[in-house]
Amino acid sequence: MKVVSFSCKPYDKQALIKVFDSQWDSHYLEVPLDLDSVEYAHGAQAITAFVNDRLDAAVLEKLAHYGVKFIALRCAGFNHVDLDCAKRLGIKVARVPAYSPYAVAEHTVGLMLALNRKLCRAYNRVREGNFALNGLLGFDMHGKTVGIVGAGKIGHLVANMLKAFGCRVLIYDVFECSFCAQMGFEQVDLETLWRESDIITLHCPLTPDTQYMINAQSIAQMKPGVMLINTGRGALMNTGDLINGLKSKKIGYLGLDVYENEGALFFEDHSSDIIQDDEFERLVSFHNVLVTGHQAYFTQEALEHIAQTTVDNVYEFIANKPLANAV
Ligand code: NAI
Repeated sequence: MKVVSFSCKPYDKQALIKVFDSQWDSHYLEVPLDLDSVEYAHGAQAITAFVNDRLDAAVLEKLAHYGVKFIALRCAGFNHVDLDCAKRLGIKVARVPAYSPYAVAEHTVGLMLALNRKLCRAYNRVREGNFALNGLLGFDMHGKTVGIVGAGKIGHLVANMLKAFGCRVLIYDVFECSFCAQMGFEQVDLETLWRESDIITLHCPLTPDTQYMINAQSIAQMKPGVMLINTGRGALMNTGDLINGLKSKKIGYLGLDVYENEGALFFEDHSSDIIQDDEFERLVSFHNVLVTGHQAYFTQEALEHIAQTTVDNVYEFIANKPLANAV
């Protein structure tokens, strides 16, 4: 069986090669999947793909034409897949529902602490022999109110970590969360969360309902100097409105691991290029903004789990078993 993996960096390949069946004709390609690269799938029954691979109708139709019957996503999110089209073409899709919620939760708290205590600035200063503390003033996490949008696997872990810091935790989810009540987290409506939180962090999926949930209107309801964190999906936040919020100082800190137009930038080395995305360049010009390139998931444990679940999904497809992780 031919299996082609797209957007497969050396670290992905290393993890996949350990678990993939040696009988398979496996191809590990660094190129992202798009209309140009899709022809590499010729003759494959299955492909594996990652977060920024293009899986819209145009690409899916080509995949079907080349004989692909199964897409194993090496990620949890599937907002980039045209599922109706895949179904119509008879292509099954499965994902890795959770690879390491700990990795993402820990990175989220890392962004909060780094922004609060200005760790990146401090690192640069000390390397230059500048030990002045001006501009490095932080605040105690203890006693602050943190609003968490999305009480799923990652949201719960972030809530627990912040509880350990002595924060008051507010939760908003579309479902009632019995675990939240047991743990003493307050489940509130979105308006209350925007209004009362010192720090707001997003852990819900990107859907038509959640797209741009952080926008001029929601920002206007927040506390002056609020800290916003997004390790969910870039388009949960409207970038133009974030920039205005930072310029007016309504937003005091912004930590992003995801960005709405990240597909053209993230996971590649653009250090010798002229970046054409003016909104992104404006964002990273603020001293109180910290951006990481979609690395919240990136731990050894998560890579191993992604590889193992991907291979399990492919085995289920080959054996014609019900797909445990179907989307
Ligand atoms: P999960 O499925 O366990 O939890 C998501 C929660 O969001 C659920 O409780 C759901 O009810 C809630 N939700 C759905 N619609 C909502 C809405 N309109 N408003 C508020 N809450 C809503 O997912 P998990 O594992 O906690 O992951 C959360 C998100 O984190 C994923 O959807 C993905 O986009 C992102 N992620 C980011 C990674 C990174 O490396 N930066 C890695 C893995 C996931």
